[in-house]
Amino acid sequence: MTRQLHLNAFLMGVGHHEAAWRHPRTAERDILDVNHFVEVARIAERGRLDSIFLADTLAVGPNVERNSPAVFEPLTLLSAIAGATRHVGLIATASTGYQHPFTLARAFASLDHISGGRAGWNIVTSAGFDEARNFGYDAIPVHAQRYRRAEEFVDVVLELWDSWGDGAVVLDVESATFADPQRVRTVDHVGEHFAVRGPLNSPRSPQGRPVLVQAGSSEAGKDLAARHAEVVFTAQRSIAEGRRFVADLHGRLPRYGRTPADIAILPGIVPYIADTESAALALEREFTDLISADYALRQLSAVFGVDLTGLSLDERLPNLPAESHIEGQKSRSTLVRELATAENLTVRDLLGRLGGGRGHRSIAGTPEQIADDLIAWVDAGAADGFNIMPPYLPGGLADFVDHVVPILQRRGRFRTDYEATTLHGHYGIEAPARVPASSGRRVGAPA
Ligand SMILES: Cc1cc2nc3c(=O)[nH]c(=O)nc-3n(C[C@H](O)[C@H](O)[C@H](O)COP(=O)(O)O)c2cc1C
Repeated sequence: MTRQLHLNAFLMGVGHHEAAWRHPRTAERDILDVNHFVEVARIAERGRLDSIFLADTLAVGPNVERNSPAVFEPLTLLSAIAGATRHVGLIATASTGYQHPFTLARAFASLDHISGGRAGWNIVTSAGFDEARNFGYDAIPVHAQRYRRAEEFVDVVLELWDSWGDGAVVLDVESATFADPQRVRTVDHVGEHFAVRGPLNSPRSPQGRPVLVQAGSSEAGKDLAARHAEVVFTAQRSIAEGRRFVADLHGRLPRYGRTPADIAILPGIVPYIADTESAALALEREFTDLISADYALRQLSAVFGVDLTGLSLDERLPNLPAESHIEGQKSRSTLVRELATAENLTVRDLLGRLGGGRGHRSIAGTPEQIADDLIAWVDAGAADGFNIMPPYLPGGLADFVDHVVPILQRRGRFRTDYEATTLHGHYGIEAPARVPASSGRRVGAPA
């Protein structure tokens, strides 16, 4: 049997390209309009995509003059979208660095209830300096410590989601029994970062628990993914790199009692789609020509944690801190450095290459070329599917859904209708067993 692809639509304002809001194919005010996001989600659902995904950072950053990374808080926006869609999965980013596991477990359990089992959590540790400063730190917390906190954070969230057993809500009018107290248990977590008694004040959610998603590719990031992630977003740029990443991540799974069937690995792609390859390349160039160099240099500075705003556009990148010295986005800094050196790019060309997807791979081509490319990656074992990052929205996603998806469907590589009702189901990943909570104390029992 040919392998089925999994497709997620990564939604970002009016498009992933940093100049999307200035291109005539977008309406710049859409970024403030919930109806725009609802429309885009419905396009994803029309294409039978597995899920949509919203990123998030907890700061505006220094670049607001040119662009803003986000306007809406993801869980809030996805709650609105949940009411306007029926099938598509809803993945929100939320930080383990600056949130609390109790409130976050509750928020995602609520989204899972509201959406009938379609919620997913993209676990991020928050790598930005401006984010740190919004939460009382004067430096980015050290990378290893961020991931240590993330490990404990996820453990607590999982315990809380399991604190209500399956069937705990009885709703028996005759006996006045709302819930079976045997099946609602405390978690009694006391750890390095958190002390949480529990249980969660939200019953077990429709898919047992929301899907766990992870996107960091450092050593610590891959370990977190291997232990918990059911979907992994990543940024490999070639089939060889993709295969190496997949082999690396798969190699870590047995340590946690998991197998490749438990995890879907989705590299990002930024598709420029047109009737001919030359028209697609011309479309890509239109976007590249709209890049503001000052904005792009500040973005590049943030990747390496040093001020690069004075760089000359016609030179090559100077020597920059090695990944081991980076406390922010470790794996992304390596990806950008390797891109610049492998192709001996000038700073101007590098900024052009980063403008569409911040380092994710762009493909400009006809729908057939793009479908061939995606299938080749999956058949080579370099991906289980893709994180689609349209350079402009909604048109860039509509073109993918209306022109690329039908080719994948005709070739038997993508569903022609939804076959499952939950996000776990769409990814073909078994939901965790819906067992009654057995550990912990009965609610009301003495400590
Ligand atoms: C597709 C994708 C989406 C991401 N979305 C977010 C996000 O919304 N918020 C965030 O803080 N980091 C986001 N990240 C960054 C990762 O969480 C992580 O910080 C980064 O990849 C570097 O990870 P590392 O330090 O483990 O190498 C994203 C990464 C990828 C590949």
